[in-house]
Amino acid sequence: MRIILLGPPGAGKGTQAKMIVKDFKIRQLSTGDLLRENRRQGTDLGKEAQKFMDGGDLVPDSVILGMVAKEFKKPELKPGYILDGFPRTCPQADGLDQLLKDQDLALDHVLVLDVPDSELVRRLTARRSCSECGHIYNLVFNPPKSEGVCDHDGSPLVHRSDDTEETVVNRLKVYKDQTRPLIDHYNPQGLVRLIDGTGNVKDIYDCILKVLK
Ligand code: AP5
Repeated sequence: MRIILLGPPGAGKGTQAKMIVKDFKIRQLSTGDLLRENRRQGTDLGKEAQKFMDGGDLVPDSVILGMVAKEFKKPELKPGYILDGFPRTCPQADGLDQLLKDQDLALDHVLVLDVPDSELVRRLTARRSCSECGHIYNLVFNPPKSEGVCDHDGSPLVHRSDDTEETVVNRLKVYKDQTRPLIDHYNPQGLVRLIDGTGNVKDIYDCILKVLK
């Protein structure tokens, strides 16, 4: 199964993707996570991406498409994948179409998580994630058992540098201007399903399951 998970920053793409991965035994391919890993390792790609990410702007399409094309060659993706945070622009969607065509593959679903802006700002400014396993917490909605420490492996929790209110406002604008229009790219293929991303994480996941099963 090959799925795109589309939605504004903070819509819960990462949270829901991790649940889908577990149940459907497919991989999560998050371009944001890949870029952050490159930054941690101090690669040239990571250094190039840093200025865009810190301002809440998109990393250039050529960089993203090169990175994704490399991932697509990995055998781990054979059983299927969920694309989290990619594509984000029309050129990226065209690039993905070409990558799929080259492998004689097609998408199964494009899920769009919808959440109002005010809720997104609240969620993101209170987000923390595990520096090791990447598990996502929220200081308001889903806090860890012990402050600042991951429940699963005891590693310190980190606050993403782009989760400040100012940067989040720009990320929301970028989503509306450049990413949400992708719904029109996938609508003619009959792949798009809008999911209400507000409310309980488990209830949202149940809505997703209804589409996927
Ligand atoms: P990326 O890492 O992709 O971030 P994003 O799309 O902005 O999305 P987020 O990770 O912020 O949110 P999410 O929807 O995954 O929400 P989460 O589940 O964590 O991109 C970061 C940057 O990298 C970009 O700005 C850009 O610079 C660059 N980039 C990445 N991909 C790119 C691309 N393709 N092209 C160009 N540039 C690219 O949840 C958020 C919080 O809400 C958590 O605290 C969570 O616990 C909480 N939460 C989740 N669900 C609920 C719920 N139902 N109720 C209450 N709280 C909830």
